[in-house]
Amino acid sequence: MEVLIRQDAEAVGHAVADRIEAEVRRANGAPLTLGLATGSSPVTAYTELIRRHREESLSFAGVTVFMLDEYVGLPAEHPQSYHRFIRENFTDHVDIDDARVFSPRGDAPDAAAEARRYDEAIREAGGVDLQVLGIGATGHIGFNEPGSSLVSRTRVKTLVQKTVQDNARFFDSADEVPIHVLTQGVGTILDARAIVLAASGENKAEAIHQMVEGPISARWTGTALQQHANVLAVVDEAAASKLELADYFRFVEANRADVPGAQATA
Ligand code: GLP
Repeated sequence: MEVLIRQDAEAVGHAVADRIEAEVRRANGAPLTLGLATGSSPVTAYTELIRRHREESLSFAGVTVFMLDEYVGLPAEHPQSYHRFIRENFTDHVDIDDARVFSPRGDAPDAAAEARRYDEAIREAGGVDLQVLGIGATGHIGFNEPGSSLVSRTRVKTLVQKTVQDNARFFDSADEVPIHVLTQGVGTILDARAIVLAASGENKAEAIHQMVEGPISARWTGTALQQHANVLAVVDEAAASKLELADYFRFVEANRADVPGAQATA
């Protein structure tokens, strides 16, 4: 895994935006599929991409979006739905056609069938070119809580209490946080051709340590990313505070200029 350490969440956002921009510029208007995540972690990147769209004419024409997850029971227009979140925090502010933003339907009458349909829809669209991820304090990617199969596909999951509490800040109270979700599986996420993950804050330090340096385990589902050959993790100093390899990662970045492309992919 390639790891970049930045001062704060703002700087993490810039580096993640750089990675996304590189992919968008390379596509140059040709079809490109981005997998997008919600939560606070990627928001600084989305804000920066909106700025680049407005001030540096960065165009997202040709981009299709597949969201990572959604709360069961919430329709797309619900104020706390992830579909609404991504529109308000990103896609409504750039030239991404709303009809090209797909997410699992939280209000589908048969959630399990919806999960299977969504997984298939991603495959039929040709798969995800670049998947943006955050990571939960429990080490989850998407909503793949501890104990999730590392080859799982999109399905219904039940949140652990810690995640419900962590996400309560987006709702009026913890009681309102749905405990069931539809999430891309770990295996679905690993199908993406490339992945960029953002993390900031001390409460992510253990999850980042496990994800980068821990044994691959369903206890910390982010560890499955070690099995993917093109993952860039951008973390701030606080989230990097438990990394045993932090100095090595800084050294790798500082010496990259000597050999262009060194560790461009892990
Ligand atoms: C939610 C989302 C995840 C996200 C995680 C971290 O649980 N399902 O995709 O990575 O929150 O959230 P935050 O970035 O707000 O800490």
